Order: sequence, then structure tokens, then C-alpha cells
Amino acid sequence: MAVIGGGVIGLSCAWRAAADGWTVTVVDPAPRSGASWVAGGMLAPVTEAWPGEEDLLALGVESVARWPAFAAAVAEAAGQPVGLRADGTVVAATGSGDRDELDALAAHLARLERSVESLTGRALRRLEPAIGPDVRAGLSVPDDLAVDNRMLLAALVTAAEKTGIEFDARSADGVATEAGRVTGVRCAEGPDIAADVVLVCAGAHSAALHPALTGLVRPVKGEILRLARRPGAFPAPRRTVRALVDGRPMYAVPRDGDGLVVGATQAEQGFDTTVTVGGVRDLLRDAERVLPGVAEYALLEVAAGLRPGSPDNLPVIGALGPDGLLVATGHHRNGILLSPITADAVAALLRDEPVPEPVRAADPARFTHGEESPGARVDQR
Ligand code: GLY
Repeated sequence: MAVIGGGVIGLSCAWRAAADGWTVTVVDPAPRSGASWVAGGMLAPVTEAWPGEEDLLALGVESVARWPAFAAAVAEAAGQPVGLRADGTVVAATGSGDRDELDALAAHLARLERSVESLTGRALRRLEPAIGPDVRAGLSVPDDLAVDNRMLLAALVTAAEKTGIEFDARSADGVATEAGRVTGVRCAEGPDIAADVVLVCAGAHSAALHPALTGLVRPVKGEILRLARRPGAFPAPRRTVRALVDGRPMYAVPRDGDGLVVGATQAEQGFDTTVTVGGVRDLLRDAERVLPGVAEYALLEVAAGLRPGSPDNLPVIGALGPDGLLVATGHHRNGILLSPITADAVAALLRDEPVPEPVRAADPARFTHGEESPGARVDQR
């Protein structure tokens, strides 16, 4: 089996498949880079919920429930920690429009029977003293977690290597097929990599790898900052802080050892990963408004990644196109969150078993206008 893409989804799926007995090659010139490397690491299906995206919420809630076991299994296989944080998440609102939006989110979540607690600004500051006086109201969502994405990626690569996965550092040009079935991966240089099953997990770059994926994934740029508390500066929050600042969404995800990841802008500008002055300015201004102490922090890194957006914001997970072609892409803002359930779904597809129930909404067949998804069975090792 060949997996195109060594980001968090490719590595998670490859590791699970190898643990199930598959011989796996991961094809990627730069594993653990791209959006997975830039990510904030929120595991936050509830605080990222959006009315009308109930299938995505159900998928995320099921995946976050799988996170503790997934983290423990990866850490055990790798012999190194993955940096899961179980301190929960708070949401903060500043202006009156932001409070209205927060109230609408709370009402939406209450209708869906999700556990959230509405708080005054003062009650929020009692929970998180780093939150400043401009914050007027908030929510506490204890079940939304976070992970250090870079520790996770390092652990996944180690676990993959220990499980016998091969890494091929060539660029994949496409999925090779013959007589309606997959034969391997075409590379920019050198011979094809032979494989009966190819799993495309190339994030925003997936669409170019096979005609069946055309139009299913597009790049959605996000800029992010990495900060570190300096001695004497106000302590960072313990929980992830999501905030609305004059209508702009912002988040700050704490790291062990005084780090703080602040994100993220969102823009559709093709495959451009330039970090812009305006993006950094907005993030710094909004972060300081919500967490005034960050003005004394060190600014360590600015970066941009390309989220793989899909037409309906749900990922694309399943069999597609010629026999033997599987896809797990289009995770948009939720790649890290959805890694455990995506790996479980791909493991089920490889065993020719049904995927977990919430993954059914992510079947690529939804884009084939009711036609039966070709190649729905994968039974070759
Ligand atoms: N999941 C947060 C982001 O995509 O910015």
C-alpha cells in the first residue's frame, strides 16, 4: 500500500494500516511539514461548530472522544509523548456584536445538547486570569482539548518507522492506473512505486493527483504566530482561548513550557504561503486585546499553511475512481482533530468493513451525484 502525503492524516493512516499488517510506503519529500506543521493543534469540535455543519460537529465530537486512546497508543508505539492537553477551552467575546454571536453559538450548542457553560467576563477571568478587561462574556467548553502538533508529528514519524513503514522522499506526480485499477504512484523522478492500494492524503495538493479528485479540494491559507512567555511576563492561559474580536475569530493555544500559538487568518489565494504584514498585525492586535500580557512575550515564529478545503467543509474519506484508490483529504480546519477517526475509517475500508457511522457523511460518493462510487471495495494487501 502507498500513502501519498506525510502530514498528520497520512502518517496516522499509514501507522494504523501498518499496525494492521499492511506493508506501507509513505511518499512525501517533506513529511510532517505543511499545514500539519503550522497548525495550532486545537481539538475543538464544539467551539469550532457552525450552524448548518452538524455532520462535521458529529464527526469531530466522535474523533475528540477517540483522542485520549489514540494519543496513548501513538506515544506507546513511539516511546515518546504526543503533548495532549486536557485542560479544556474557553470562548471569549469583546464587542456587543461578538457577544450576540457568542449567544447564538451557545443557543445552537444547547439545542444540540452539547455541554457548554455561559460565563460573564469576570467569571471567565477567574478561570483564566490572563484574559483582559475588554472581554465581556464567554463560554467554557471543557471537552474541547488541544495537542502539541509538532510533538504529535514527531511521535507519529517515530511510531511509523518502528512499525516498519518505508518513506520515499520523491514527489508524487499522480496515481498510476491500468485497466481500471490502481497500479501504484507516479513520481516526478524515477520509476513508479508499485502498489495495489493508493491512499491520497496530500491535503491541499490532493486534487492534482487523480482526475477523480479534481475540484474536491482547494487551498485555504492560514497564518499563525508562535510566542513564548519571557521571565516576568504574565502567565499564559492554561486552557485554549478562542475569541471573537470585533467580528474576527482568534485563538491562542498554550504549549507546555510557556509557549503560545496564536492563529489564524483565513484566505483563499491559491497556493500562496506568504506571511503578510496585515495578517501578523491583526493576529497580534487581537491577541493583545484578549490576552494583554502577550505584549511582553517573545515572537518566535510566523508561518502560513494551506488548509485543504472541500466544497462542504466536510472531509473526503473513502474509495473513489479506479479500484484500489482511497482518499482521506479535505479536512480543512480539522486535520489534527480528525486524525484518529480518519485512521480508524481507513483501517475499516482496508478490511472491507463499514466506516464509523459519522464518517459516512464524508463519503466521496456525495460528489458523484448519486452514482455508485466506483471502486468501493478494496481487498488487496
Ligand atoms: N483549526 C484551526 C485553523 O484551521 O486555523
